[in-house]
Amino acid sequence: MKKERSSFTGKLGFVLAAAGSAVGLGNLWRFPYLAAQHGGGIFLLVYLILSVTFGFSLMVAEIAIGRKTGLSAIGAFNKLNKKCTFIGYLAAVIPALILPYYSVIGGWVIKYLTVFLSVNVAEASREGYFDNFIGNTGQSLLFFAIFISLTAIVVLFGVEKGVENVSKVMMPVLVVLSIGIAAFVCISNGIQGKWEGLSYYLKPDFSHFSIMTVVSAMGQLFYSMSLAMGIMITYGSYMKKEVSLESSAHQIEFFDMGIAFLAGLMIVPSVVSYSGIEGLNKGPGLMFDTLPKVFNDMGAVTGNIVGAVFFVLVLFAALTSSISLMETVVSIIQDKFHIERKITCLIVLGGAFAIGLPSALGFGVWSEVAPLGMDILTFFDFLTNSVLMPIVAILTCLTVCYVIKPKTVIEEVSVSGRFKLAWLFKVMIYIAPVLLLIILVFAIFEAFGITFGGLLKF
Ligand code: TRP
Repeated sequence: MKKERSSFTGKLGFVLAAAGSAVGLGNLWRFPYLAAQHGGGIFLLVYLILSVTFGFSLMVAEIAIGRKTGLSAIGAFNKLNKKCTFIGYLAAVIPALILPYYSVIGGWVIKYLTVFLSVNVAEASREGYFDNFIGNTGQSLLFFAIFISLTAIVVLFGVEKGVENVSKVMMPVLVVLSIGIAAFVCISNGIQGKWEGLSYYLKPDFSHFSIMTVVSAMGQLFYSMSLAMGIMITYGSYMKKEVSLESSAHQIEFFDMGIAFLAGLMIVPSVVSYSGIEGLNKGPGLMFDTLPKVFNDMGAVTGNIVGAVFFVLVLFAALTSSISLMETVVSIIQDKFHIERKITCLIVLGGAFAIGLPSALGFGVWSEVAPLGMDILTFFDFLTNSVLMPIVAILTCLTVCYVIKPKTVIEEVSVSGRFKLAWLFKVMIYIAPVLLLIILVFAIFEAFGITFGGLLKF
């Protein structure tokens, strides 16, 4: 018996739900620090090109697989071909590995919110404040625990819809505020070096290009658009046949890229202004290190208010994503083991806490533990984004090319209107696995410290 699957009411419902899950810390926290680290304008350009070619094709393929089969990743791959079921399982592991460290960063957001609510902008803007905080075992564990528990409470009581609705209102406010903050940095007179920062972010400079630019842009693409982990398959399974799949994919991409671009615009020039070019290599702490300095320059009252509002908005964006991550993991375990939902939530909460613990401690007491020379959080981030996701993406493309054939996807897309970019899709789906394999190999070599010298460096 086929169960009737509930579906999104219309196109807007689908796009908003998918974009709501896609837009999160990936755009606000991850994109700016990667752009800063990997060449600014050139990273932006590479990211843009990869999004509209490869990202678009993979997104269309995933949504189409979901809509065609009406199932989420594991079931969907199984239905396409029994031999492909393992791809679904592999994809399912990824959210389970992301959720824990995602929550560590969510904890940082809560910490900064409390700082601004307690009118401490001056203190937060002091050099070393962030490093002190993440190095403090009690503090980093406390805020990590608060964030993951908050996520679990929402999932446990099934009030995701409420959070989503609040977040729908908050998103546009976040966009406006980000533009305001970016404008403040550019307009304010006292801030030196902002034009240098702005040009670093906007002007592609090929001398900054390296293979790592492509590796990290590709990883960011998967992460930010929630691709190569079964999420878009699940969303597709709830999509109605009459809703245009192609233009929905364009719109999700547009939202996602727009918010990431704005976050970069707000953060990258500020870094150069406050900490000079050397500041660009700060890594995961970039947003938390830089923004308080910008807020502090707005004056005590304004700075505290803007800071508090900003971190509330970021918190909601982070929560919608973490809820969707936890929900994914819970439903996979529930489907598989038929455990009661409440118990499953608690198991996932405990598991995520345990897996996240090393990431939370990796900047303090466990800073000596450095797998492949990375802090533990960055290691988990690398493992999921630069290793597992490319593997799942390669396997997804191969399934489309050789098992179900591209025409199956094209037919599914065409159900809701002519597939205008079918040609691009057909080309990309064959090229992508080869490119991905090359990128994967480079990423792994790089992680083991085998660099290719000046190779691919202009
Ligand atoms: N795309 C989300 C972000 O940008 C993060 C994310 C990765 C995610 N995988 C997910 C969100 C799965 C929901 C579900 O922050």
